[in-house]
Amino acid sequence: MKNKSLVSITDYSTDEIFKILDLAEQYEKNPVQSVLNGKVIATLFFEPSTRTRLSFESAINKLEGKIIGFTDASSSSVKKGESLKDTILTVANYSDLIVMRHPLEGSTRYASEVSPVPVINAGDGANQHPTQTLLDLYSIRKTQGTLENLNVFMVGDLKYGRTVHSLLQAMSNFNPIFNFISHEKLKIPDEYKLFLDERNIEYFEHSEFTDIISKADIIYMTRVQKERFADPIEYEKTKDAYILRNDMLEGTRDNMKVLHPLPRVNEITIDVDKNPKAYYFQQAKNGVFVRQAIMTKILGLEINN
Ligand code: CP
Repeated sequence: MKNKSLVSITDYSTDEIFKILDLAEQYEKNPVQSVLNGKVIATLFFEPSTRTRLSFESAINKLEGKIIGFTDASSSSVKKGESLKDTILTVANYSDLIVMRHPLEGSTRYASEVSPVPVINAGDGANQHPTQTLLDLYSIRKTQGTLENLNVFMVGDLKYGRTVHSLLQAMSNFNPIFNFISHEKLKIPDEYKLFLDERNIEYFEHSEFTDIISKADIIYMTRVQKERFADPIEYEKTKDAYILRNDMLEGTRDNMKVLHPLPRVNEITIDVDKNPKAYYFQQAKNGVFVRQAIMTKILGLEINN
C-alpha cells in the first residue's frame, strides 16, 4: 500500500483493530484534545450521509483539526467532467487526509492508489464501510464485554448492505456464529459465504426470524438499500420483508442488543427505541470516538493523555 489508507476492514489485523478500539475508549473518556491541531482533513461525499460525515466532522472539531470538502459532488468540478484521479490529486494538495464516500465499488481503493495522502473509505457502493465496522465492533465489545463467541443475527439487505459485508469479515476474527435473515433476493453474496467457509465460521440462512431471535447476542438490523436497485418494483417487493417490533424482543437474552447502522426507514418500529435493548443511537454516538481513534492512527499521531 502506498500510504496508510483504510479501504477495507481486512486492511487491519486483529491487533490493529484492538488498538483502535482501545484508543477510542480513551477518547470516549476525554474527547476534546488538540491532536489534529495544524491538520486539514478533506471530506468528499459523492453520496448522501448524515452520521458518517457529521461524526467525522465532530471528531475533527473535537481534535482541533480543520475541515474542507463537499457534501454534494454537483457543487464540485466533477460536475464539469473532472476525473476522480484529478479530484484526488488536487484535494491532496490541500489536505493531510481524505475521507471519501462514493457510489462505485472499488473507487476508494483506486483513490488510495493515486493519492499521496491517506484515504479513508466512508463507504464505496455495496462493497465496504470499514469505519462503520470499527464503531460496530466498539459497540459490540462495550455492550457484550467481549467480541468472542457471539451469536450474531444479521437481518435485511445482506446483498447490498456494505456495513454487513465489512462487519461479517471483521467478526470472523472472533469465532462468531452468524444467522442471516433476508429475502431470497437479498441474500448474502456467495463471495462472503466463501470467506466464512474458508475460515470455518458457522453460519445459517433463514427466511423468518421471529422464532429464532431468542438465541441472539446481537441483532444487526439493516435498511433495504433502495438506491442500489435497478428495478423499483424489486425494491417494493422486498422493502418490508423484516420489521422488528418491540413485542418481538420478549424472551430475548438479557445481554442482547439491537444494532442498526442507520438510517432507519421502517425496519425497526419506533416502539423499540425505548427498549433498553435498543442500542442504535448510542452506536451512532460511538462513531465520534472511533473516528477520532482512526484518524489519530492513520496520521501517526499520539493522544495527549
Ligand atoms: N451508517 C451510515 O453510514 O450512515 P450515513 O449514511 O448517514 O452516513
